[in-house]
Amino acid sequence: MLERNACVLVYFSGKGDKPLAFSPKSILVTGGAGFIGSNFIHSFVANNPDCKVTNLDCLTYAGNLKNLTAIENNPHYRFVRGDIGDAPLVADLLTELEIDAVVHFAAESHVDRSITGPEIFVRTNVLGTQILLEESRKHLQSGKVGDFRFFQISTDEVYGSLGETGYFTEQTPLAANSPYSASKAGADLLVRAYHETFGMPTLNTRCSNNYGPYHFPEKLIPLLIHNIINKKPLPVYGDGQNVRDWLHVRDHSAAIDLILKKGVPGSVYNIGGNNEWKNIDIVNLVCDLLDTRLGRSDGENRHLITFVKDRPGHDRRYAIDASQLKRDLGWEPAFTFENGIAETIEWYLDNKEWVEGVTSGAYREYYEQQYGRGSV
Ligand code: NAD
Ligand code: DAU
Repeated sequence: MLERNACVLVYFSGKGDKPLAFSPKSILVTGGAGFIGSNFIHSFVANNPDCKVTNLDCLTYAGNLKNLTAIENNPHYRFVRGDIGDAPLVADLLTELEIDAVVHFAAESHVDRSITGPEIFVRTNVLGTQILLEESRKHLQSGKVGDFRFFQISTDEVYGSLGETGYFTEQTPLAANSPYSASKAGADLLVRAYHETFGMPTLNTRCSNNYGPYHFPEKLIPLLIHNIINKKPLPVYGDGQNVRDWLHVRDHSAAIDLILKKGVPGSVYNIGGNNEWKNIDIVNLVCDLLDTRLGRSDGENRHLITFVKDRPGHDRRYAIDASQLKRDLGWEPAFTFENGIAETIEWYLDNKEWVEGVTSGAYREYYEQQYGRGSV
């Protein structure tokens, strides 16, 4: 027991201490070819030119190397095609690249897919996280790395659903309702367990709904933009009164960068921008902004709205209390929603090729050409 605690002291200072300044030199980002991971890599590489960044991604349907073309020749960045569940590969990367932080985005992330096929969510999100944790534990035990962080990127969905009032805080009990959120909650609990049991210097964030560039068009906001441009129906689940709390993906990325360097190991941090919207209001807003932008008549796009059968177990309301992060680390979102959504719409209009590449499936050929089938 004493020995274990002594080991713990080497790696973290414990909850309640002042934030430590941590300067990572070589980080392993998992799932960096997805929506948030790729946005994070762009901003992290730009803001941390001396840190090496390795992106481990197996390129599921949601992984797209076109998200990263702007930095693929950067000497501090490298891509490795591989699965977080491949323990020997993870072990080799941790050792050979002298990794001092794992920033773990890789996941199955879409709630609807978790309803039709939960198994892969458990395999990737729960078991994949445990394998990363276990290999990180062995890496730490080897004594070849000093200061280290295991950073679990998670979601407000682990807290379940709110009524008309109130907010999720870091103390809100986990009450996941979908197979997706249950798998993320399982992973969060493993992260907690590795901290409590083995002294793993963990960080765990829970963020609200993100929007911005490179968002896969199965998710609400990019789906709306894509369908409006193409005059296709806009499916609104149930009565459209469900509430989501939207944050620009670059505000999320900035929070992760800050927490990685200054967060207290063993802590959970909520991330959100106090920006609640009923789904139907977001749908109407995007319709109206695109009426103007595409030169269509007022109200024209709203005719595309189609109410459809509700998502089973559809959480009614999410709302994040991020006051701990603001108070302790001084984080504030830089985007107003007005600016963020306008910029996002412009991005999709300027990058129709990207969207068409995704919807046609051409983006998959791009990595097969570059890396070959199943290559690492
Ligand atoms: P995404 O679906 O866009 O990307 C997931 C990435 O993980 C893809 O590149 C995919 O190829 C990769 N991946 C999946 N399984 C893998 C495996 N076994 N090995 C290696 N790579 C694998 O997801 P996202 O929206 O960018 O979300 C990233 C993380 O942030 C997830 O953990 C998610 O739970 C969390 N999160 C998302 C949001 C949001 O609004 N999108 C909000 C809060 C938290
Ligand atoms: O809250 C954070 C979570 O946000 C992340 O953990 C998830 O990875 C991410 O996918 C997102 O989950 P949601 O289920 O909230 O996002 P989605 O874009 O699928 O749906 C947003 C809301 O819009 C939700 O209430 C369901 C509704 N919806 C969604 C789609 C795709 C519709 O009404 N119609 C649609 O076609």
